[in-house]
Amino acid sequence: MPPSTVGHWTYRSSDDPRLRAKAERLPTAFSVHAEQKPRERLLLYSMVFALAPARCLEIGVRFGGGSRIIHAALSDLDHGRLVSVDPFPEPDFDWETIADRATLIRGYSPAELPRAMDAAGGMFDFVFVDGDHTEKSCAQDLEGVAQVTAPGAYVLCHDAYHEPVERAIDAAVRLLGYQDCGMACTTLNDGCFVEPNKKVRYGGVRMLRRI
Ligand SMILES: C[S@@+](CC[C@H](N)C(=O)[O-])C[C@H]1O[C@@H](n2cnc3c(N)ncnc32)[C@H](O)[C@@H]1O
Repeated sequence: MPPSTVGHWTYRSSDDPRLRAKAERLPTAFSVHAEQKPRERLLLYSMVFALAPARCLEIGVRFGGGSRIIHAALSDLDHGRLVSVDPFPEPDFDWETIADRATLIRGYSPAELPRAMDAAGGMFDFVFVDGDHTEKSCAQDLEGVAQVTAPGAYVLCHDAYHEPVERAIDAAVRLLGYQDCGMACTTLNDGCFVEPNKKVRYGGVRMLRRI
């Protein structure tokens, strides 16, 4: 980069290519088969693109849309790896197309998280938690994540308005050394299971940070 003039000084910018990365694959975030609302997709892409994490973990893959959003942001940065864990993933695309920087582990969180960390080559600095939404499983995921994340790592929890997930996150903040950064996406989805007319709340992304 040519130097620029700042006041009386000439400023030569860092050569780090991530400073000049462009969000060329952002449209991917809106076209893939992800179980996320548009605002949540934009948040996920933007957080990865802005933070430029070296090692990302995704818990819960299903059709692989979240994996592809994270992969798109890492590819735009030309930096970082993703390891995704799901016992029964159903990607509707050929995983080989993202295998340059994404690894799929077929197995359960938290049991497979140490193996995921080995596959990533170190502790994670970004995590997307979107697995089993029962309170017990989500609590176990967050316990496991605490073992494989570096201090300062960001953890995004999807469907954080779902009451069992909310309770698990609240407990993790009290007990496990997570800083609560609050809701990063207020996509509250007050829906219902129609036939029994049972209200069920989903949506929202809550952000935690490892202390
Ligand atoms: C809501 S879907 C994930 C959606 C995906 N993250 C996306 O952005 O489209 C939940 C997934 O979690 C998986 N799952 C359930 N229990 C799990 C566990 N213990 N560890 C990892 N994944 C789990 C399910 O198999 C399912 O595919």
